[in-house]
Parts: sequence; C-alpha cells; structure tokens
Amino acid sequence: MNSSAADSAVRPHDRFCLGIETSCDETAASVVKDRTIVLSNIVSSQLIHSQYGGVVPELAARAHARLIVPVILAALESAGINWSQISCIAATHSPGLLGALLTGLPFAKALSYSLDIPFVGVNHLEGHIFALRLEHPNLSPPFLAAILSGGHTELLVVEEWCSYRELGSTLDDACGEAFDKVAKLLGLGYPGGASLENLARKGKPGIPFPVPLQDSGSLDFSFSGLKTAVLYYLQDHPKARPEDVAASFQESAITAVTNRIVRAVKTTGLHTVGVTGGVAANRRLRDRLKLLAEKHDFRLLVPCPEYCTDNAAMIAAAGIERLDRFGPSPLNLPALARARLG
Ligand SMILES: Nc1ncnc2c1ncn2[C@@H]1O[C@H](COP(=O)(O)OP(=O)(O)OP(=O)(O)O)[C@@H](O)[C@H]1O
Ligand SMILES: [Mg+2]
Repeated sequence: MNSSAADSAVRPHDRFCLGIETSCDETAASVVKDRTIVLSNIVSSQLIHSQYGGVVPELAARAHARLIVPVILAALESAGINWSQISCIAATHSPGLLGALLTGLPFAKALSYSLDIPFVGVNHLEGHIFALRLEHPNLSPPFLAAILSGGHTELLVVEEWCSYRELGSTLDDACGEAFDKVAKLLGLGYPGGASLENLARKGKPGIPFPVPLQDSGSLDFSFSGLKTAVLYYLQDHPKARPEDVAASFQESAITAVTNRIVRAVKTTGLHTVGVTGGVAANRRLRDRLKLLAEKHDFRLLVPCPEYCTDNAAMIAAAGIERLDRFGPSPLNLPALARARLG
C-alpha cells in the first residue's frame, strides 16, 4: 500500500467505507459512514442453489462474478455518493468458499489500487460480530457474542474490538446447518431455516428430541445427534405431523443454544450478550432469549434480521475498525477457506 493510501486511513473527515461480501451465496455491497451509519445495504441472494439442496461452489463463484459490478453500483447509487467520496474498501477474505471469496476480494483490491485508497480484509465471522454494533453504536467490549450461522456456531468473549477469546464452538454441525438439514428432511427448500420456523409456528413441540450436550458442563455445541434423532423419528413415524416435528426440533435446538449462553453469562460474569448470524433471525429464539435476559439479568442485543444474515454493512463496519487499529491490509492478502477468530 502506498503512503497516500495509508495517510488517508487516519485523516479526520467523514469516512465512507465500501464493504464487499462474497463468502458464500450472497453477493453484497454496502456503504457505511463513520463506523456505523449504513447508507446502503444491497444483498443479492443466489436462488439458483435451492434446486440442488445446498450451495454449489462453482455456481456461487460464477454468480458473484456476474453480480458484483451491478451490486456495487447499486450500493453507491443507493447511498447517493460517487467513487471519489469512498475513502476505504473492506472485503471478506475468510472463511468461506474459495471460489466465492476470489471474486469479491481481488475486485476490492483492484478498486483500492485504482482509487488509491486503503483496502482492509475482514474475517466474515468478525463481520457477524460487528453487525451488533450497527444498531448499537455505543456498544463497547467486553461482552459475550454468540455467532449462530450456516457454517459456524461460536461462543466468544469480545475482550476488545478485534480481540476475541473463544469459549466454545460446535463439535460437528453448525446451528444453521442443522436447521437446513432438518428442513430438507421435512421437504422444505434450501436454505430452510426460515421455512422451518414458519412451519414450526403451526405445530406443537411435544416430541421429546434430545437437547444436545445438556448435561455437559462445557460451552461447546453439538447438533448432529439432534438431526439424526429427527431422521430416525421420521422413519419410525411416517404419519407424524411435519409442523410438530419442526416445532419440537426447533425447541431442542434453541434450548441447546440458550443453555450455553446462560452458562457463559454465569461463568464469565459478563452481562451484555450479542447473538448474531442467520439463526439469530429466528423469532422463537429471540423471544426465549428475551425472557432469559430478564430472568438472568443480562442485556441482550440481537441485530435486525437483515443484519443477522450475510450482508456487507457488517463487513464495512469491521473494516473501518480494523483500519483504525491496524492500518490497511497488504494487497497480497490471501483468501482463506478456513479461519478462526481470536
Ligand atoms: N428464521 C430462521 N430460523 C432459523 N435459521 C435461520 C433463520 N433464518 C436464517 N436461518 C439460517 O441461517 C443460516 C444463514 O445464516 P448466515 O448467512 O449467517 O450463514 P452463512 O454466511 O451461510 O454461514 P457463515 O456465516 O458461518 O459463513 C442458514 O443456515 C439459514 O437456514
Ligand atoms: Mg454468514
């Protein structure tokens, strides 16, 4: 990065950060002003994968390549700003599908080079944590964060912005993955989390599916046994009402999550909890968390649904903070399929 780009990282004026997200099957771009003011948030979801029951990596990469320019232009237009006003560019560099990351990341670097402004690479999971800040600009660490997404389930202490201590994570499937797999068993489309929630609303949660790791003292998660229990139940009870199966699975999965969160509050003594990632859009989970927050006296923060699922506003917000703390990323920053926080 040349010196003029590095200098602009610390210039005290309104900063407009262009965020770019292409880690999975959403092509997203956003303009965020001054850390948390979202001026635009464009998300193009790739519907093509639903017919395959999961994300097809090559199709995802091709769709990103097709969509990236129109999505970025729409983000600028919707924000009402032009290229010369953009002061930094943040893009997801890990974790995710490599072919998908390798559309947005080099695009962001090329824009940074040609516009002579700083580039920052962002970990997608860190982006999910910064989604909490978009609606709560005064949020300050330390706090607990639970990331419940399609590919990850993590419980962390955010000790400082951009500094994390992992408390627990899933030993097998991610929480969103379990929702998607059970949705598939019930014949719902992909991704099935939201459809499963809709179906569950019409059912009764009377089937005693196991709550994974209920008696374990750890802060880790596990969802594959629960998913298998649903599979066996459906095989043994072909006339079971899908609504009841959905509602019962959902209750067990939510109990597994809320148990860990309450345990983490007790063991860390932290009384602010942020819950983020796609599954945090689930209304039943949000309602149950609200009750627990009152009972156990913690402040609960859950982003609005559009900031729970993948978006580029959260990437821009994380990028601005990273730029202030660590300066620009090198233009040879690699894309990584796997990367942990902390
Ligand atoms: N209302 C809902 N109830 C339950 N699950 C939901 C709901 N809405 C979305 N999901 C689930 O959230 C997941 C998508 O979330 P997100 O976009 O954060 O994940 P991802 O980006 O694919 O994974 P990661 O962030 O780990 O890379 C999917 O598994 C989807 O089924
Ligand atoms: Mg995500």
